[in-house]
Amino acid sequence: MTPAPPPDLSAHPATSLRTDRCGDLRAGDVGRAVSLCGWVARRRQHGEHLAFVDLRDRSGVVQCVVDGASELRSEFVVRITGTVRPRPEGTGNADLATGEVEVGDCQVEVLNPAEPPPFPVSDRVEADEATRLRHRYIDLRRNRMQRNLVVRAAVTRALRSAMDRQGFLEVETPLLWVPTPEGAREFVIPSRLQPGHFYVLPQSPQLAKQLLMVAGLDRYYQIARCLRDEDLRADRQFEFAQLDLEASFVSQDDVLAFVAEAVLDATEAATGARPDPIERLTWTEAMERFGSDKPDLRAGPELVELGPVFAQTAFRAFVGADCIKGMRAPGQGDLGRNRLDALTESAKGLGAKGLVWLRVGEGGTLDSPVAKFLSDAERAGLVAAVEAEPGDLVLVVADERPTVRAVLGQLRLDLGRPPVSEGARRFVWITEFPLFEGLDGEGRPVPAHHAFTMPHPDDLDRLESDPLSVRSQSYDLVLNGWELGSGSIRIHRADIQSRIFSVLGISEAEAQARFGFLLDAFRYGAPPHGGFAVGLDRLVAILAGEENIREVIAFPKTQSGLDPLTGAPAPVAPKLLAGLGIKVLPAPA
Ligand code: AMO
Ligand code: AMP
Repeated sequence: MTPAPPPDLSAHPATSLRTDRCGDLRAGDVGRAVSLCGWVARRRQHGEHLAFVDLRDRSGVVQCVVDGASELRSEFVVRITGTVRPRPEGTGNADLATGEVEVGDCQVEVLNPAEPPPFPVSDRVEADEATRLRHRYIDLRRNRMQRNLVVRAAVTRALRSAMDRQGFLEVETPLLWVPTPEGAREFVIPSRLQPGHFYVLPQSPQLAKQLLMVAGLDRYYQIARCLRDEDLRADRQFEFAQLDLEASFVSQDDVLAFVAEAVLDATEAATGARPDPIERLTWTEAMERFGSDKPDLRAGPELVELGPVFAQTAFRAFVGADCIKGMRAPGQGDLGRNRLDALTESAKGLGAKGLVWLRVGEGGTLDSPVAKFLSDAERAGLVAAVEAEPGDLVLVVADERPTVRAVLGQLRLDLGRPPVSEGARRFVWITEFPLFEGLDGEGRPVPAHHAFTMPHPDDLDRLESDPLSVRSQSYDLVLNGWELGSGSIRIHRADIQSRIFSVLGISEAEAQARFGFLLDAFRYGAPPHGGFAVGLDRLVAILAGEENIREVIAFPKTQSGLDPLTGAPAPVAPKLLAGLGIKVLPAPA
């Protein structure tokens, strides 16, 4: 089923003040008397009395020919009444949807004059971030930003409609909540009625949606606002939105199918093209082949296992290595020495002992400082294994397996990654994540997803004896190398949940104090359930061709977490603080 088109006013453009929208006028409207409202995008004066005024509203721009418009300035809000007419022969503008017509015999009414904007309303002029956000209402007048918000609305609408169609019920969950164990620092809200007590803003609706499953809601979704006090980056804001969902009596395959339907619908709604079905990799495959749990499948060739090629090697750096892997960088055999030295340094920065690079010549010859240490069979075996072509660069790392994967995975991106939003859209599922991602400072396993993730049934008996080898029933969705979403089948049985808490070093008492309400609920009939959350801002950014999620959020924060428009965060009145029982200490040094 094709999703509904993006929200558009064009079916009902008229209001008391206007008959049409600027961007809708076409040759078919010639002869009509129209009233238009909008902002003066540009005024080009012709002689003393005649001016061409480009009038802009959300739908686009149309040229109006105005007598005596000298008082009009950029960004004045005006109402123009006139008649649509063809543009004179040879003066059409093929770049403009309204370029065949203009509005003549114009009467202009200034609805509101405007000061000159702090930066031009134009996609061609880049103002700095602080200025753009300080005057976001002007920044949002730009074509690019308006288009991004339209894409966002189209994506959200398609997601909602796909979830509705699949029998999910939209339910809102509280913002004033308790800590959610998702791993980020949390925002706290003081309580006036319970001095000294605090609400915590949800990092996600994770706990609430699991309670909704106990409540028998069966399939829940929400476009949920999530709040996390983490360091901000291109793909991270304090406040962001998720398509959050949870379903009962499901397997992992069911959840992946629900999410795929929604995400592919959204992609189609935003771009007009439906991507191929989403491929799947296990976590181990992704790490071995791409050196990353969020592989960018567009970024060139895979990592190749070279252990067999160098099994008998006499080259010191490879002898006895736990793992040897290599990859080709197509056509990059002409990289200069400086760049190769820089690659070697960055490999070392990522933990490698060194980096072997080889330039591939005609007939598979290898040019490299280490070529002389390799036998003919090793050289030929290497070229064949990585399928190198003349003109390629080949990189090889020998080390502990995790180091080899991490180093080559990063070099693969450094050498071959297109911008995140450019070209093809390559979705991929990553399944069978390890349950724990390593040990913390006290030697305790750290959950890779969260503490409510169901272990893989085949690995459950190793939970206590060998926790790091236990796989989980969790899965991520990755798009062009960005983690787009995560989910898991949850633990619904108190006995397994207790074992996890005990492996994590969370005592019964602590578990009761932190998640007692959830554990209690599980005693009253919890169905097997699982779910997922898609990062909406990330999805929209990639679909809109943006590298930073800030560009698809109407009112985002700066990199340092400020809102230059409102001045937030700001001090509050001492009286308000006193009422909350709060005294502000000097800022920590
Ligand atoms: P997780 O913490 O992986 O899972 O979050 C899911 C997705 O939300 C997006 N995301 C963010 N987007 C913008 N700014 C941020 N600061 C930010 N943090 C996360 C990412 C991420 O993949 N409750 C679980 C889901 C579940 O198990 O059902 C959860 O929140 O795209
Ligand atoms: P060395 O013998 O340490 O001077 O290293 C010879 C070459 O092999 C240098 O180019 C190193 O960067 C590279 N090298 C050393 N150790 C490794 C390793 N573990 N994996 C890949 N290359 C290495």
